Amino acid sequence: MKIMVVGGGGREHAIIKKIKENKNVEKIYALPGNGGMADDAECVNIGAKDIDAIVSFALENKIDFAVVAPDDPLVLGAVDALNEKGIPAFGPKASAAAIEGSKVFSKNLMKKYSIPTAQYEVFEDARSALEYIESVKLPTVIKADGLALGKGVIIATTREEAKNAIISMMEDKVFGNSGSRVVIEEFLTGPEVSVLAFTDGKTLVPMVSSMDHKRAHDNDEGLNTGGMGTVAPNPCYTPAHAERAMKEIFIPTMNAMNAEGRTFKGCLYFGLMITPDGPKVIEYNCRFGDPETQVVLPLLESDLLEIMMAVADERLADVEVKFSDKHACCVIMASEGYPTSYEKGFEISVDDDFGAELFVAGAKLENGKLLTSGGRVLGVTAIGDTLYDAIQKSYENVDKVHFGNAFFRKDIGLRALKAER
Ligand code: AMP
Ligand code: GLY
Repeated sequence: MKIMVVGGGGREHAIIKKIKENKNVEKIYALPGNGGMADDAECVNIGAKDIDAIVSFALENKIDFAVVAPDDPLVLGAVDALNEKGIPAFGPKASAAAIEGSKVFSKNLMKKYSIPTAQYEVFEDARSALEYIESVKLPTVIKADGLALGKGVIIATTREEAKNAIISMMEDKVFGNSGSRVVIEEFLTGPEVSVLAFTDGKTLVPMVSSMDHKRAHDNDEGLNTGGMGTVAPNPCYTPAHAERAMKEIFIPTMNAMNAEGRTFKGCLYFGLMITPDGPKVIEYNCRFGDPETQVVLPLLESDLLEIMMAVADERLADVEVKFSDKHACCVIMASEGYPTSYEKGFEISVDDDFGAELFVAGAKLENGKLLTSGGRVLGVTAIGDTLYDAIQKSYENVDKVHFGNAFFRKDIGLRALKAER
């Protein structure tokens, strides 16, 4: 079989490595991929948002199955376009990807179907949003409606900050049209848990839970990033929480999307907060998380491609989805200065005795050398019998990867270790 994976980061590298385990796979193309995954897939210079070129490539190369991993092409209708040409694909259609593409849509969905989430109001003009801020309880959370590269959420502790956020989103349009509507919502407290789930609209199977570390620096300080590391499973998520989330959030969300005529098929990402009142939804994503995927998929014991094909064919109930009971830790190695400005072009080298999984996100091949080309450069994932072992092993192997201006958090998994005790 010939497989095509759309996307080019560490998440896609983890997906590709797992798909490769299937014996029927002869060839995997990554569009665009990156130089660090050249051993696992043929990288094709087509951008993940170039839907026409993606479909043409799939037709010309007789692709048997496509996986669309990032949010942008999903929201833009990549799966619709592939399916129209008869190419089966894993991922939601545009109508279902709206669950991530529009926060107004997802908040209204949760309200309509009584799915637990933060109280909120939607604003379409800056003046009424600014007026509302005068009396809102602090801290308050301001979210741009549309996609904003993970930067569209501001937690404001003062009215001044809240007003500035509204002005920059709605008037200065720092996120373009994504900020033409905003959601202002109640600030929730509690540990955060990421749960990815396979669903074909009939069946929903949650994967092992995980914990992201979004801030750039140790002790959760510094700017928000795409994620600086992850562990799985997440010790804050007990079997009782999982049972409640399944009953109050996961199944109701699948049913709500069906009822709206927007059946979700693919990986549905639940960003949960375990509040004093139980699990509530902070956000939905219409895709695998990054870097959650880099700890979740290495723990998957079943055949990923088989599961993905079953999801596309709506026969998820017939396949096995089994996870190991071990632990995984992924430490992201970034370029110093990420997420703002950083230098690139440094050579990456890996010691011969490196003994973990390497998922490359921001690197390019030039004259046979692998050079850094992004903010998040790569992730080092290790598996252990305990969380402590996984963390230790991951950091041991981080020390075996070298590149100029390398930067990583030293405390990935520490919060989870404390929660375990
Ligand atoms: P999001 O991009 O929606 O994941 O939001 C980014 C981060 O902001 C989340 O991971 C939370 O840490 C935080 N956040 C979002 N919404 C809320 C909320 N209602 N209350 C508290 N924190 C929130
Ligand atoms: N790590 C969070 C996300 O993928 O959105």
